[in-house]
Amino acid sequence: MSIFKKEKGARNYLTNREIKEIARANAKEMKRLEAYKNRKCEESEFLTEMRDPENILEIEDLHTFFFTEQGVVKAVNGVSYDVPKNAVVGVVGESGCGKSVTSMSVMRLIQGPAGQIVDGSIRFKAYDYKRDEKGSPVANSEGGYEMEEKVYDIAKMPISEIHRIRGKQIAMIFQEPMTSLNPVFTIGEQLDEVTMIHVPGATKEMAKAKSEEMLRLVGIIPENVYGAFPHELSGGMRQRVMIAMALAAEPRLIIADEPTTALDVTIQAQILDLLQDIKNKIDGSILLITHDLGVIAEMADYVVVMYAGKVIEKGTVYEIFQDPKHPYTIGLQKSKPTMNLDDGTELYNIPGNVPNPINMPNYCYFKERCAKCTAKCSGEYPGMVQVSPTHFVACHLYDEEKSNG
Ligand SMILES: Nc1ncnc2c1ncn2[C@@H]1O[C@H](COP(=O)(O)OP(=O)(O)OP(=O)(O)O)[C@@H](O)[C@H]1O
Ligand code: SF4
Ligand SMILES: [Mg+2]
Repeated sequence: MSIFKKEKGARNYLTNREIKEIARANAKEMKRLEAYKNRKCEESEFLTEMRDPENILEIEDLHTFFFTEQGVVKAVNGVSYDVPKNAVVGVVGESGCGKSVTSMSVMRLIQGPAGQIVDGSIRFKAYDYKRDEKGSPVANSEGGYEMEEKVYDIAKMPISEIHRIRGKQIAMIFQEPMTSLNPVFTIGEQLDEVTMIHVPGATKEMAKAKSEEMLRLVGIIPENVYGAFPHELSGGMRQRVMIAMALAAEPRLIIADEPTTALDVTIQAQILDLLQDIKNKIDGSILLITHDLGVIAEMADYVVVMYAGKVIEKGTVYEIFQDPKHPYTIGLQKSKPTMNLDDGTELYNIPGNVPNPINMPNYCYFKERCAKCTAKCSGEYPGMVQVSPTHFVACHLYDEEKSNG
């Protein structure tokens, strides 16, 4: 808990005593969470059930914090959303609201000891080896291994078991492909490695054939690119290679975090078309994180709107665009540039700033920026209200609908 009490008055700094107290509290909590992450345990400890069997991913009440010298940054503070099978779920929200930290938590890529998942569940429906009581894969009669569908709680998995899903069942496409590709290996070598790691018994020939197939799938002629180094390719081509790499392990879920932000507009459109096309070809789901509402409108089936580490609204793409409920979502829609703006019309701008993540208030985090706030908004943080079977909003304006059931 932060002891940085900015609201107390003029003091806008920490005393030495406070810094020491924060360091002590952080060290204790980080030690506990690191030990939990690095523990050895039976598979049964992280096996669970999906709430809805039609989902591939269910994030529930996730809390991911950063223990900093100034206090605890509650980057993800009770986030819940689902990714159904064969669907594209778009996550939007302004910079710093916790979109990436949520997805990095799913991949268990949060950098410890400062960054830690402190609470919540990340249920993922995996297709993995059947294991015996000792945890060893069970062999089948054809010389391979028996596979089965099972649900892992990723948040509870020891870090040593993450290889079961990371890069294999869940693949990630990052914003800047150059940071994910190794500059000293050829594209072919890096693609082959994915198959060699994730497909048991794969030979070099099999891996090469798979790499070439994946390159063709993303619209690249393998002969031109297989032997090339990353720096020899354009940004758009590198992003295609990243997508090919993500696909090589045949994941059930692809997380694309701002996949087109670093690309110019025409290439952006091509990459989005490619993602859409691939979604139809693979039997999987896409979690698409972006600032760009236009991209979401075009690609997503469901939309999650985040604000200051929380989900403030979620629903189908139609509900979020045609019938937004939360004042922040309504503001986001109004701040989207359109072709219909007359010359001289200023684009709407949501006034104010997000509260300090170390010192969040107890009431609605959007209150200081909200034109619709009422006396109730100074009370406790609003709970999620269901306004349709698929549409949820966290705002006191809809409390009546909650009490009416
Ligand atoms: N290593 C870190 N140490 C401290 N705070 C961090 C760290 N990484 C992220 N944060 C904080 O977590 C919060 C959420 O960050 P996140 O990267 O998830 O935002 P985002 O929604 O993805 O934003 P953007 O749209 O800019 O990518 C931010 O307040 C950020 O400052
Ligand atoms: S709860 Fe109140 S302050 Fe928060 S968004 Fe709704 S109306 Fe605005
Ligand atoms: Mg981000």
